[in-house]
Amino acid sequence: MRALLLFLAHREGFKNFILRFKIFQKAAWRFVAGETLDDAIRVVRDANRLRMRGTLDLLGENTRSRADAINAVREVFTMLDRIRDEKVDCNVSVKLTQLGLDLDADFCRSNLEEIVRRARACESFVRVDMEDSIYTQRTLDIVQKVHTVLDNVGTVVQAYLYRTAQDVAGLLEAGVTIRLCKGAYLEPETVAFKKKRDTDANFLKMTRQLLQSGLYHAIATHDECIIEATKAFVRAQNIPRERFEFQMLYGVRRHLQQKLAQEGFNVRIYIPYGRRWYPYFMRRLAERPANLFFVVRNFFKG
Ligand code: FDA
Repeated sequence: MRALLLFLAHREGFKNFILRFKIFQKAAWRFVAGETLDDAIRVVRDANRLRMRGTLDLLGENTRSRADAINAVREVFTMLDRIRDEKVDCNVSVKLTQLGLDLDADFCRSNLEEIVRRARACESFVRVDMEDSIYTQRTLDIVQKVHTVLDNVGTVVQAYLYRTAQDVAGLLEAGVTIRLCKGAYLEPETVAFKKKRDTDANFLKMTRQLLQSGLYHAIATHDECIIEATKAFVRAQNIPRERFEFQMLYGVRRHLQQKLAQEGFNVRIYIPYGRRWYPYFMRRLAERPANLFFVVRNFFKG
């Protein structure tokens, strides 16, 4: 089921079919803040009220023209200015394929650099999301290049990839801060662990390494076993809570998010918004088939 949903996430025909049904759009709002920046800022404010930070993501990926990539850069500028003007506690996340990675790596790097520079002027930070493994090396190269000029940029590594331990070592050496996640894409066995227990074991191993590195990293998961193991590790190693943060997705395990914040941990919520929610929504459905049954049940309820 997971593989099928991830396969369909990139099928235009299926997307056009599914978008005819209002119920799918309604279901997407559980994971997506809304279509506009106003909607997203409202959600950030709600999170801030609960002592949680935000990271805003303008939905969109695999941009097909330079004009679209430049429009995305402009929208991220607007987002950064708005975050500064509204004085909300929030930074931004971007995807390199939205900034033109499929078109030209140098064009994409220059777009990212412009965003990071604008973020610097707004005293903000840019996290570069990690996409399919065909983009991993190019993403790391671009982030590291921009990081040599401006250090308010970090990236993401995925515990399901075999290469991740090596990538973490390289990023730590370059002083780049990391968001560690399990990984959300359909990957072949040649590059990624297929068993959850292998991914989880790698996640825990990488977590310990990140927490001992002295840099401020993000542990991005809703997995209670991993969260409890992380809490036990920092307790045992006397690592202060302000030295790292947990990150979770908007709409996923809200009680757990609030519980961690109430316990005094730094918590940041990933808040996506915009009209191009389809692939993001399909990845969220794929993570938990029960989400799909919920959509289908409501579809038949009418
Ligand atoms: P796991 O999938 O084992 O889930 C643990 C528990 O969390 C489940 O049992 C369930 O209760 C709950 N849960 C998880 N997903 C759910 C869902 N969709 N709906 C309802 N409940 C759910 N991936 C990537 O490839 N590149 C990236 O850049 C990012 N960025 C990112 C940022 C942040 C802040 C987070 C939290 C996650 C990402 N991810 C990501 C996604 C990540 O790779 C992974 O797919 C999801 O976080 C789900 O994995 P968990 O670690 O939560 O564990």
